[in-house]
Amino acid sequence: MQQNKSLKAFNTFGVESHAEWFVEARTADDVWSCLETFRDKPIMVLGGGSNLLLTKDLSGVVLKISLKGIAVVQDYENHVVLEVQAGEVWHDVVQYCLEQDYGGIENLALIPGQMGTAPIQNIGAYGVELKDVFDSCVALNRNTGQKEVFNLDDCHFGYRESVFKNELKNQFVILSVRVRLTKRQHELKLDYGSISEVLQQQGVKNPGIRQVAQAVIAIRQSKLPDPKILGNSGSFFKNPIVSEAEVNRLQGLYPDLPSYQAGNHLKKIPAGWLIQHAGYKGYRQGDAGVHENQALVLVNYGEATGLEIKELAQTIQDKVFHDFGIKLTPEVNII
Ligand code: EPU
Repeated sequence: MQQNKSLKAFNTFGVESHAEWFVEARTADDVWSCLETFRDKPIMVLGGGSNLLLTKDLSGVVLKISLKGIAVVQDYENHVVLEVQAGEVWHDVVQYCLEQDYGGIENLALIPGQMGTAPIQNIGAYGVELKDVFDSCVALNRNTGQKEVFNLDDCHFGYRESVFKNELKNQFVILSVRVRLTKRQHELKLDYGSISEVLQQQGVKNPGIRQVAQAVIAIRQSKLPDPKILGNSGSFFKNPIVSEAEVNRLQGLYPDLPSYQAGNHLKKIPAGWLIQHAGYKGYRQGDAGVHENQALVLVNYGEATGLEIKELAQTIQDKVFHDFGIKLTPEVNII
């Protein structure tokens, strides 16, 4: 347990903020003992800090989840169920799966963050979401200390959404996650974005899961900044989902506005396009900026504060609303 701990190294934006108390949990018992010890104080549960913008010092406790371990818990002819502890780094899990030739999460290579936070956000990229491989998770009830199992249906997964962000927000700490992966006859998802194109450019004729992961890594590296080099939190906003009528209205004005089907009479439009066409791609205000290759990503060029990044986000939201009449919602947790 540490006091007045700097969180700069614990958030991928790399902004400064201090926690009054900082506790690192390596076991489920550590988690519960922290929750009990500090019952009367605010407790923020921290995973990889990759979906977080800290705008102030935090009173109370930051509980860093560092439970480790990957194990095969069910092994069948064609698939396995893997149980991963919440503190494992997501991309390490992807690499482990590639080494073992377990298929299903190769499109999710290089997503920053930890296993325990993956279900909260229902992380997704290149046509795959966690929910597609999710089996169940075990979460600790913060009030009772009971471990509870959440199956797929219990999690109410949606686009960057789950029960843990909504109805059950701040009520559970996820301890481990089980995913169901293929051992053979992997079902490759190559349709999204430029995966097939990149594979073709690389001269790959019969891709396997490793080649798909490599293609995804190449695409991400060409667009998305590495948080170790340039502080960022991935996509800062969600892609807005709007009615078809609204998309038709906008496409009348902006014929090249991309849109994707998103359910009954609804369409998703890329927030990156809106931000770029509102004039903010590559924009910089002090050390807070909008990435030059992907306008959906806000970056910290060094010494930006969380508040400065939050202000920039608000400026962008106002301008996009002014220009297009669309409200952008942050994907990142702003604290
Ligand atoms: N676009 C622009 N300008 C930009 C950026 C994007 O016009 O500066 C337009 C382009 O038309 C492009 C389209 O937006 O074709 C989509 O862009 P991209 O494929 O880069 O994906 P995205 O919608 O911006 C989403 C996820 C990413 C994920 C990619 C790939 C969200 C909020 N973001 O981004 O997830 O990697 O798709 O699947 O859904 C994250 O959540 O942190 C994240 C990086």
